[in-house]
Amino acid sequence: MRYDSITQTIGNTPLVRIDPRVHGLRHIDLYGKLEMFNPFGSVKDRAAWNMVRPELDGAVRAGSQIVELSSGNTAKALSVLAGMHGLSFKSVTNRMRVPEIKDLLLLLGAEIEELPGRSECLDPTDTDDPLTLFHRTLSEPGSAYLHTDQYFNDRNTQAHALGTGPEIVKDLDGRVPDWFVACVGTAGSSTGVARALREHDPRVRVVGLVAHKSDFIPGIRTIDEVHEVGLFDPATYDTMESVTADEAIDGMLTLARRCGILAGPTGGAAYFGTVRHLRELDAELTDGDKRRTAVFIVCDRIESYLSYVKQRRPEAVGLAPRKNSLSDVPDAEIAAVTALSAPEAQEWIAREQPLVIDLRSPSAYAALHIEHAINIVDELFAELIRGGLPFSKRKPLLLACPVGDRSARYAALLTRMGHTDARSLAGGIIAWRDAGAPLGRD
Ligand SMILES: Cc1ncc(COP(=O)(O)O)c(C=O)c1O
Repeated sequence: MRYDSITQTIGNTPLVRIDPRVHGLRHIDLYGKLEMFNPFGSVKDRAAWNMVRPELDGAVRAGSQIVELSSGNTAKALSVLAGMHGLSFKSVTNRMRVPEIKDLLLLLGAEIEELPGRSECLDPTDTDDPLTLFHRTLSEPGSAYLHTDQYFNDRNTQAHALGTGPEIVKDLDGRVPDWFVACVGTAGSSTGVARALREHDPRVRVVGLVAHKSDFIPGIRTIDEVHEVGLFDPATYDTMESVTADEAIDGMLTLARRCGILAGPTGGAAYFGTVRHLRELDAELTDGDKRRTAVFIVCDRIESYLSYVKQRRPEAVGLAPRKNSLSDVPDAEIAAVTALSAPEAQEWIAREQPLVIDLRSPSAYAALHIEHAINIVDELFAELIRGGLPFSKRKPLLLACPVGDRSARYAALLTRMGHTDARSLAGGIIAWRDAGAPLGRD
């Protein structure tokens, strides 16, 4: 195969059957659509190229900088495409949480601007989020940027409606699968594929997967971030389900070790979510029924996520298992945590002077924080807990995070470890601010 440009190798990715001895479904053939075979490594190569292509000539003439709100694969693809055309690329994002991806973006020549935002995906309804404010300035007329706008750009969806979806039908000999399953970030890939499949046969069932509450799976939304904005339309999905980070890693390890598919966490999440969704349906089918087919998307490759796995599943890379892990804390213990409303917390701080620990990013903390709070960013706090905290178990503690979920988990974990009075700020710094309680800045 010979090509004039690497961009011609985007798309036409393989559809690979998963060994039934691995997934255990008896009446359903399961296929992975291996988007990691795209040249820059992910499903986003298609969207990035489709969004940028019609704008390139104008951008080159004007010397514009390409800009996108992405902390991962879209940024990676756009960095390469920008560099190939003599342009620069800037990625604007909340704190980059996957170090390998940040290093790779810098190596590819990207400029990175990290903002103290809150969520993994853009939430335009959150008008105080710095990422939302930045997004708004990009949409103003006269901007010197080529803003690809992946959360709203229909050419993101179109890349999959014209490419990924029809390829699946072609590789299934003109049939549409009975189920199509995909993780949801911008929703471009799931929406585009669903559109193409439904046009062919409206009986296809579409399952959208998001990360479990307060779990981080790089590249996709959490269940709390599913809003009817941008390309995301709940009507696209017959079902939305959530997958925990632990389940995503289980899926990833099964794909890598048993199927030879070196998928990243969202590929693992998609595999895990698909098999879980289909298990009961498969049990209801009999040998007399016609065989069914399901397809899930493998978005990208494993290599960029070694630190992600190491942190959450050290034994998978030969390290000692984690003790005192947040994921070990049962829901009942989280529910039993003392969660203080903003007025209650103010009163407690004045009376007991607890140590107030703000778990948000340093830039969010610098922008606004509770007076005398100290800033220990989430991941660092998890490390400190494992290594030993630098204060007494009898010291009263008030933990604060953006919305009150992580802080409740940490309070439950610390209580389990013997801390006598660890409390959580209910609703987080957002509730504190909304209650008009005082906030300082550096
Ligand atoms: C690793 C990974 N998986 C899944 C997705 C979701 O794709 P989409 O944005 O098309 O919903 C993304 C999006 O960036 C991603 O980076």
